[in-house]
Amino acid sequence: MIKKCLFPAAGYGTRFLPATKAVPKEMLPILNKPLLQYGVEEALSSGITNMAVVTGRGKRAIEDHFDNAFELESQLNGTSKDHYLKEIKEIIKKSTFTYVRQKEMLGLGHAILTGEPLIGEEPFAVILADDLCDCAENGVISQMIEVYDKYQCSIIAIQEVPMSQTSKYGIITGDLIENSDNTYLVTDMVEKPDEKMAPSNMAIIGRYILTPEIFKILKDIKPHKNGEIQITDALKIQAKQSKVIAYKFKGNRFDCGSVRGYVEAINYFAKKLNVDV
Ligand code: G1P
Repeated sequence: MIKKCLFPAAGYGTRFLPATKAVPKEMLPILNKPLLQYGVEEALSSGITNMAVVTGRGKRAIEDHFDNAFELESQLNGTSKDHYLKEIKEIIKKSTFTYVRQKEMLGLGHAILTGEPLIGEEPFAVILADDLCDCAENGVISQMIEVYDKYQCSIIAIQEVPMSQTSKYGIITGDLIENSDNTYLVTDMVEKPDEKMAPSNMAIIGRYILTPEIFKILKDIKPHKNGEIQITDALKIQAKQSKVIAYKFKGNRFDCGSVRGYVEAINYFAKKLNVDV
């Protein structure tokens, strides 16, 4: 049973400066909803109610967003505008939020390790909110929980990307599992390889289910690419020690960590929701 979802949200959002100077990048809106709220909704729709957020300096807007706002609510209460807060109030009612601050930016692996006190000794999901996913039926985390239930090991979501893009992602290679067209037993993985060094075009996207053994591995590994502690390196060790499955998810993904992907996401949701533009 996966009960908790970790949201690493301490990064600076450099590619969105100056917008992200005082506003957390996870709070940038796609239409009228912040990126992180899409992630929390995805977790909730998979049955997860415990949201564990790794924040940092200047990220207090995240805590305020997922909390009651008595003054605002009492102002809107009973007016024609109170429906604007309905969705977020529902989310707050259904979820528990816990927070920890990452004091130094030492990579995604370090951010996940910083979340250990909020997770404990149980398998958990990870959502990187700037990878925004929209699926026809079940969300990506729901799809991955089904895979986890079958294999009981760490699961990573993947997507095929053009070879020219491999240097932006963790890249995996693996053996297709018999009788499946979307699950691979991971045999190797490498963080952001050049096109020439990439073992395939199967890129890790910002969704993981991790077993708690990952914390011990993260504590032992040395910083690698860019002096950061990479989750990709830890998962590679876990794949050798036990097993890791890569799952090609069904749905659309937008890289909202880049201006181009962010604009694409806005256009996609505007069309989907029939917003007059
Ligand atoms: C991180 C991971 C990378 C993964 C990517 C997905 O990189 O390190 O393996 O492919 O997320 O978005 P980042 O985009 O944080 O640099």
